[in-house]
Amino acid sequence: MREAPSTVWTRKDLIGIEDLARDELELILDTAPQFVEISRRESGIKKVPLLQGRLVVNWFHEPSTRTRTSFELAAKRLSADTLAITSSSSSEVKGESLHDTLANIEAMHTDIIVIRHSCAGAPHILARRHRSHIVNAGDGRHEHPTQALLDAFTMRRHVRKLRNDPDAGLDGLRVSIIGDVANSRVARSNIWCLNKLGAEVTLCGPTTLMPVAVDRMGVRVTSRLQEALEGADVIYALRIQLERQQRGLFPSIREYIRLFRIDNDSLRHAPAHALIMHPGPINRDLELATEVADGPRSVILEQVSNGVAIRMAVMHLLANSPRAQAAASAPQTQARQGLGS
Ligand code: CP
Repeated sequence: MREAPSTVWTRKDLIGIEDLARDELELILDTAPQFVEISRRESGIKKVPLLQGRLVVNWFHEPSTRTRTSFELAAKRLSADTLAITSSSSSEVKGESLHDTLANIEAMHTDIIVIRHSCAGAPHILARRHRSHIVNAGDGRHEHPTQALLDAFTMRRHVRKLRNDPDAGLDGLRVSIIGDVANSRVARSNIWCLNKLGAEVTLCGPTTLMPVAVDRMGVRVTSRLQEALEGADVIYALRIQLERQQRGLFPSIREYIRLFRIDNDSLRHAPAHALIMHPGPINRDLELATEVADGPRSVILEQVSNGVAIRMAVMHLLANSPRAQAAASAPQTQARQGLGS
């Protein structure tokens, strides 16, 4: 018999994984399975009324396919009203500050604001000054908390199947994260999340693509792909972020492919049960060969499906937990000090 989640949700916002305790992560992971079932309904309505009458705003300042559509679908499956705002279509292009824009959006009685922004820390600053529940959908190179949660959820479902244990967690799971760690908010959130859940993380890539403080992250680091693949239960390839990359961080794309690409040849070093994961979008045949991305070990599309359930769980906990609601009704820091940026 599964144990009930061991905590209640008390936070107004979901800003990052770094601040969360293990039991808060587990509460979200334990809340998501009911929403997987709702999305899988073959007959009947793929909806529940948990956010009926609430307004969820998707406010994306950077491109997104998966996260934006996943949040929108999650909100709709919870029966919320949804609104999508992009920076190019809002009055930010006329010089309006983030705070002013959000204050005006909030004047229309929003409940949850999902924000992606190129500046690390933007969701944190907004969360302190505004009443709505803020969900970080990726801030600069800092955090992407719901990606890490959906990744942990996907890993946990496979571990439970593999071990035939419905209560198995990620303790002792060996996860190798390969590629452009320095530029990756996905990697940062995953490292915090996996460490808190008891997994053992190995980072692999060119030393120029490792974060500065990597020795304080509680991970093993190697620049030899074979070493990272041997014994790995999960192989997590990261996108080479060509758009964030300064020139010259590795000699050439051809060199990167030769040393770090996950393909059938390099996979000879990995255990047969190892899962292949990637947050998307994939640079096909750069960090991940097509034969592997579309191969039998890949759970990449399952990550995307699970993302909807995780985002339903997050929004349900934020909007329906009494203590989170109380935190949203309390006066926010500096709320009365004007709206300058
Ligand atoms: N994984 C992820 O964040 O993808 P998108 O940029 O498409 O949202």
